[in-house]
Amino acid sequence: MELREAILGRRSVRSFRPDPVPDNLIEELLELAKWAPSAGNLQDWFVYIVKDDRVKRDLTGACYGQRFVAEAPVVLVICADLERASYYGERGVYLYSVQDTAAFTYAFMLLAHEAGLGTVWVGAFDENAVRSILNIPAHLRPVVVVPVGYPAREPRAPPREKVRKEWV
Ligand SMILES: Cc1cc2nc3c(=O)[nH]c(=O)nc-3n(C[C@H](O)[C@H](O)[C@H](O)COP(=O)(O)O)c2cc1C
Repeated sequence: MELREAILGRRSVRSFRPDPVPDNLIEELLELAKWAPSAGNLQDWFVYIVKDDRVKRDLTGACYGQRFVAEAPVVLVICADLERASYYGERGVYLYSVQDTAAFTYAFMLLAHEAGLGTVWVGAFDENAVRSILNIPAHLRPVVVVPVGYPAREPRAPPREKVRKEWV
């Protein structure tokens, strides 16, 4: 798939077929996503890969009832590693860690799309609830929840406005 086609064709998928996603496909896509840029090449991300139904149901609750979280065969909880990011002091902890995790997440989403999978970036969740469900240690900050599965239907593309900009 051409990069342009992947960028234009990726959609937020919120309904999934029940078909399982092979573990080795998830592993492969994560290993490709690590080629995303990160500050000083710190690769300051950590990924929980959730397949357990009870844990997925709990995550749906932590995501304020967004039901598609539990419906996806696999749910990633992508965290920023603040300990690693602290190499760059406060800027590393508060800014780079989130930027790095976001770059990794988007790379994963494009790769998943190329592999025929659907994903959606879920940012609306109770961080403390997610933390306690997965027993996440203090140095990791959950940044994004990404349900992954084969799309049940192709969502329509929400419109984009022209990029607001100024050439200087
Ligand atoms: C930071 C961020 C937070 C988001 N949080 C949610 C969310 O909690 N639930 C959801 O359904 N979609 C969420 N989205 C997905 C956006 O709604 C979606 O990307 C946007 O509407 C554009 O649609 P598209 O991804 O299909 O192009 C989030 C996206 C981003 C980047």
